[in-house]
Amino acid sequence: MIIVFMGPPGAGKGTQAQILQENLEIPKLSTGDMLRAAITAGSDVGKKAEELMKSGDLVPDEVVVGIIKERIIQADCATGFILDGFPRTINQAQALDKMLKDNNLIVDKVICLDVNPDVIVARQAGRRIASKSGCVYHIEHNPSKVPGKCDVSGEDLIQRDDDKEDVVRHRLGIYADTVRPILEYYEKQELLNKVSGEQSVEAVKQQILSIIKQK
Ligand code: AP5
Repeated sequence: MIIVFMGPPGAGKGTQAQILQENLEIPKLSTGDMLRAAITAGSDVGKKAEELMKSGDLVPDEVVVGIIKERIIQADCATGFILDGFPRTINQAQALDKMLKDNNLIVDKVICLDVNPDVIVARQAGRRIASKSGCVYHIEHNPSKVPGKCDVSGEDLIQRDDDKEDVVRHRLGIYADTVRPILEYYEKQELLNKVSGEQSVEAVKQQILSIIKQK
């Protein structure tokens, strides 16, 4: 099962991909998490990504395609995986199809979460993340059991640098400028499923699970 999560920043892709990862027992591959880990590690990829991510710009296609290409051939991806935040450009969508075809694989479902930009700006201000476990929380809508600590790893929760309002609005603008051809690409292949991300986390989850169960 190969699932692609799309949607504007803050739509809930990471939250739902995490839930689905536990449900389907396949890994979530978040390019954002991988790039943040590369920055922390000080790798070449991290150096290329750091300034672009801080300002909310996209990292070059060849960098993200390269990290996904290496990741999907690892053993834990053998029964499937969930892509969170990739593809983000039409070039990335085409590169994904090519690398899957080379491994005799195809995308099974594309789920696009729709959320109004003003709701997103409010959400991002309350987001807290755990960088090691990849878990995502919200101080009001999805709090951790112990304030400031991750439920899974116990690590301290942090706020992302790119969650400031001006950067969030810039990221929303980039999404609006780049998303249409990708949606059309998946619509033509009859893979696209749109879900309102403005419902509760539980309601979004139920809708996604029913889409996954459909043939
Ligand atoms: P990335 O980390 O992928 O960020 P994003 O796509 O902008 O998405 P977010 O992580 O901000 O939001 P999300 O949809 O996952 O929402 P979440 O579940 O956290 O990318 C960051 C940067 O990396 C990019 O700007 C770019 O520079 C670079 N990058 C990454 N991939 C790239 C690629 N493929 N190509 C080029 N560059 C790339 O939820 C948000 C908040 O809302 C949380 O607090 C959550 O608890 C809360 N929430 C979730 N669902 C609900 C709900 N239903 N109701 C209420 N609150 C909710």
